[in-house]
Amino acid sequence: MGLSEDLRQAVRRHYTERFANRAFRPGVDWVPVSGKAFGPEELEALVECALEFWLTAGPHCRRFESQLRSMLRVEAVVLTNSGSSANLLAVSALCSRSLGDRRLREGDEVVTAALGFPTTLNPILQNGLTASLVDCRLGTYNPDLSDIEAALTPRTRAVFLAHCLGNPFEVDRVRELCEEYGLFLIEDACDALGASFDGRPLGSWGDLGTLSFYPAHHITTGEGGAVLCQSGELAGIVRSLRDWGRHCWCEPGHDNTCSRRYDTAFPGLPEGYDHKYVYSEIGYNLKMTDLQAAIGEVQLSRLPDFAKTRERNFRALDGLFKEYEEWFILPRSIQGGEPSWFGYPLTVKDEAPFSRQDFIRYLDSKRIGTRLMFGGNLARQPAYRDNPLVKIPPSGLPGTDKALTSSFWLGVCQAIDEPRLSYMLQCIEEFLRAVGTA
Ligand SMILES: Cc1ncc(COP(=O)(O)O)c(C=O)c1O
Repeated sequence: MGLSEDLRQAVRRHYTERFANRAFRPGVDWVPVSGKAFGPEELEALVECALEFWLTAGPHCRRFESQLRSMLRVEAVVLTNSGSSANLLAVSALCSRSLGDRRLREGDEVVTAALGFPTTLNPILQNGLTASLVDCRLGTYNPDLSDIEAALTPRTRAVFLAHCLGNPFEVDRVRELCEEYGLFLIEDACDALGASFDGRPLGSWGDLGTLSFYPAHHITTGEGGAVLCQSGELAGIVRSLRDWGRHCWCEPGHDNTCSRRYDTAFPGLPEGYDHKYVYSEIGYNLKMTDLQAAIGEVQLSRLPDFAKTRERNFRALDGLFKEYEEWFILPRSIQGGEPSWFGYPLTVKDEAPFSRQDFIRYLDSKRIGTRLMFGGNLARQPAYRDNPLVKIPPSGLPGTDKALTSSFWLGVCQAIDEPRLSYMLQCIEEFLRAVGTA
């Protein structure tokens, strides 16, 4: 349809008045840890889509799905209403009866990291599976292959790991391990869109991968996410689970895509029962809308520029903190890893003349945002303490416990432009110089 010239001009004017050219006021405006960056094009796409008033999944979802599919080199992409929903669908798909003997059952174990965001862990427990937690290595904030190997038992059926803060874990070796032991691999790439390992995009190494488009992430659709699927079989199950559990695959607003709507036969149902109302999975409704996808398409075209800004900000912070390495464990990536950093993670060493709390309070007073490592050691969070489905290694979780008490991260996101970056560097240096001479 396209916007009329009048409307386009009005949207552009609104963008300029409301969002553009706002000079940064140091010490007054926040330097965000994460946040959306967008131009008038996102507003135009949203207004145009709103005026079409399709509202549910439609042509924009189809296009956004296909753009992600070719960029990430996966068999299929299923859009969702959040990254958490994508994680829930990924684990639930592995528990589907459609997989027959290959499916995960109650009591089976899934290896996952103790350090991280709760909704990587939650779907394991929500499906009645046991979460076998593994420790992380400070610096990469991911588990090593040896941590994962040590957690394997005869009940282990899957590995579900996030690439922490956009930094790849040893996904090639973890995949080999999974192949050797017949385990499913799910990659939570919610914080890692655009990152790769050995030139292959993260999220495309596992049987399933997940993305989040919440505003904190590499691109945004407001709420939103996706499941990346490496087989048509899993994609079909994920799609059905997302769409109420139905067997039919018609897009919203369409009927009889299979042209056999009244010709199917399912045991227990009357012959020719409407395919639209045949349910083969115990499903949810976790779909994305076209309004979200319309924003996503424009945002995806900006990803290369966003990645450059993230890289510039990461390098600038790294250059500064390298001078103070005696007090911090600095971030590192593994050989072959091409991170797309979500943030700049640091661990304050015991010998530093200040605590994490001192440093983040100072940064807060300068209106520079920081974040802890999500839930830290999730096993210590009220929701999971003493949960019989949460298994901790006999050697404990020393790396994750250290991250709980001493790690945090600074922003590198696309919303941090050069003036914000310079201000952040200047404030950090002032603090570190002052504590160094105190
Ligand atoms: C690693 C990871 N997985 C999953 C999620 C959940 O994504 P969403 O907020 O879109 O539900 C997040 C959220 O930030 C995350 O960091």
